[in-house]
Amino acid sequence: MNILNVLFLSSLLLTQTACDNDSSEDIIKEESPETNPGVNTITYEKDVKTIIDNNCIACHANPPQRGAPMSLITFADVKNRSGAISDRMKDENNPMPKSGLLDATVVKVVDDWIAGGLKEK
Ligand code: HEC
Repeated sequence: MNILNVLFLSSLLLTQTACDNDSSEDIIKEESPETNPGVNTITYEKDVKTIIDNNCIACHANPPQRGAPMSLITFADVKNRSGAISDRMKDENNPMPKSGLLDATVVKVVDDWIAGGLKEK
């Protein structure tokens, strides 16, 4: 197969997945390590901890503050709640942080971290 064929096929693939893309679950599935090796480089220590520290631990401290139900201080805390964290960081009606959704690029870092297998470092 020559390079043009490869390019044509990959653009076909991209167009198709873009059209199928109507739920957040789909986005997460697409970002699997097989389809996007970049997700493998995201780690808690390098990428995710800063996001949580800057936006969440004012309330999700240990002990939790201002009515927050759990702390998000440690790797285990964040890893164990990663599904709910990702959901609420995209929930316009019930956003986390409560002050309003963060930039989509920031939320994507968390989703890529999950897709890449929740690496610590
Ligand atoms: C101003 C305080 C505050 C900040 C900042 C905040 N939270 Fe929360 N969080 C709460 C409170 C209060 C609740 C419980 C009520 C609710 O679910 O809305 C909660 C609930 C949650 C839940 C649901 C817990 C469950 O039992 O399912 C998740 C997940 C969550 N927060 C994640 C986050 C993340 C991730 C951030 C940062 C991006 C964040 N929160 C920032 C106060 C906060």
